[in-house]
This record gives sequence, C-alpha cells and structure tokens, in this order.
Amino acid sequence: MGAATTNGPKVRVALDGVSETLLWTLYHRAMEARRPDTVLDDPMAVELLDGIDYPFERRFGKADMGSAQGQALRARTFDEEVRAFLGGHPDATVVALGEGLETQFWRVDNGRVRWLTVDRPDVIALRRLLLPAEPRVRLLGCSALDERWLDGLDPARGVLVTAQGLMMYLRPSEVRHVIARCAERLPGGELVLDAIPRWLSAQTVKGRVKTREGYVTPPMPWGMDASERWKLRGAHPNITEVRDVALTRGRGFFYAHVAPHANLIPLIRKRRPSITVIRFGEGAATGGPR
Ligand SMILES: C[S@@+](CC[C@H](N)C(=O)[O-])C[C@H]1O[C@@H](n2cnc3c(N)ncnc32)[C@H](O)[C@@H]1O
Repeated sequence: MGAATTNGPKVRVALDGVSETLLWTLYHRAMEARRPDTVLDDPMAVELLDGIDYPFERRFGKADMGSAQGQALRARTFDEEVRAFLGGHPDATVVALGEGLETQFWRVDNGRVRWLTVDRPDVIALRRLLLPAEPRVRLLGCSALDERWLDGLDPARGVLVTAQGLMMYLRPSEVRHVIARCAERLPGGELVLDAIPRWLSAQTVKGRVKTREGYVTPPMPWGMDASERWKLRGAHPNITEVRDVALTRGRGFFYAHVAPHANLIPLIRKRRPSITVIRFGEGAATGGPR
C-alpha cells in the first residue's frame, strides 16, 4: 500500500522548530531512495516526498547526495537492528520514539510485529493524514518524556525501542530519564539510539549549523562522543550491555570503506556521530532510581 498522497493533490505541510526536522530527514532519505542504485529500498518515502507541498529545495537547499546517503544508511542501520531483534522475538513490539514521517514499519514488517509510533500530537496528526492506517500500528501523540507510552507494553513478547534522530534534541538529563525508564519498565528489551558528537552539538546550540539557503538547524543540546558511550550504563542498574553499531556499508569510497569502520580510525573514532544499542536485563528493577 502506498502513501495516502499517491493519487490526490499535494498536502500542504507547515511545521517549524524541532518538528520541521522530520522534513529534513524525509527529504534526504527519499532523495537517496529514488536513485536507481539506492542504498535504501523505500518507495513509500519517495511517494511521501512527492505528495507533500513544502518548499524542500528552497528551504533546505539542493539535496547533497553525501548527506542523503548518510541519512539513508542511518535508517538502514536501524532497520538491521530491528530485523535482528525481530529474528529472536517475531511477535515483539517496536516503539519508534520521535518517528516523524519515517516509513520503517513498511521496510521491516514481518507480518507479526506490533508497532507504536510516538511523536508530538501535530506530527501524529500529519502521519494519520499522509500514511495508511495499519491494524498492527498504533499512534500516540505524546512526548517521549511522558511515561504514558510505556503503559500496556508486554516485555514478555519483546520490546525494542528506537530513537532515530531524536535524542540530540533533548537535554542530557532528559536522555538519561528516557533510558532509565526503559531499563526499569522493559526487562529483556533493547533501545537503539543515535548521537551526534559534542563538538557538533555545541555548534548547533550557537546557531552555527545552517544551509546556504538560510535554514538554521535547531539546537541539539545532547551531544555524546562515541568514546564516552560507556557512561550510558550509569543511567540505570538494569542496563546489561551498551554496544556500538557500525554504519551499514554504502556506496562510494567514504560510505563503503571509511564510515563502516569509523570506530577503528584514530582521527575520527572518538568524535563521530554514532549509533548505540542498550540492552536491559531480564530482572526488572521496577523501583529503580528516578
Ligand atoms: C530529526 S526528526 C527524526 C524523525 C524520524 N525519526 C526520522 O529519522 O526521519 C526528529 C523527530 O523527533 C520528534 N520529537 C522531538 N522532540 C520530541 C519529544 N520530546 N517527544 C517525541 N518526539 C519528539 C520531532 O517531532 C521529529 O519528528
């Protein structure tokens, strides 16, 4: 089934601040997905992009194919983690925090997974308008910081939480809060998140990350250097593992030979964007620190 916009008129979208960033990621992912040699098979993202009335190029600039491939590879790396989790827990629930207009469900669906999309109410309304309803997909308009999304999940079937392109927009204490609540409430579960390095976070906070067209990236107050990932373990005693995930291999010299091995390359290994999986022990520590 295609995006709801496939045959109708374009849908006008007006978002600002952090919510608008979902159009940035969609734009880049879809521009990559429409290439014949794409690294991300995602026709629905392309349909979505084509069905939205928004000045993508005027606002964000011509899609730089390096960034577009980078966004798509990040999505594919998350897909691989979701597929691996579903391999061991085919009836699991995937909770996609800050999912924006991601179309990951349609890329990884195994016919059994249950899906919970969590984002701001205005974004959820947009998702309802633009993407098809699915019987196994539930949408919840609330903050990732609101514990309501954790209610009613069944850890016995397996719960995987993803936070793709979300955590950097939160404050450091809020990131720890989300991780700790997952550790407390989701025994046996996992959380996959990505982080930007501290130097880049500092640049966004100063308003220095902008395009030639004048689009200024909103502040991203949480930065984590890949070398300090181990500190995440301190968020809750029920965290049993914190591991680095290499970016999946892409096209061209950088994405085929450099980015997938970034954890081994001295000059970039410590201060690079990174993807991390956090695993929670089976024994729930429900009364843990708050
Ligand atoms: C950069 S976009 C990423 C969207 C999507 N995950 C992707 O990769 O395309 C950031 C998303 O996080 C959402 N977001 C920001 N703060 C949030 C919060 N506190 N709770 C839930 N979602 C939030 C925004 O609305 C937006 O959809």
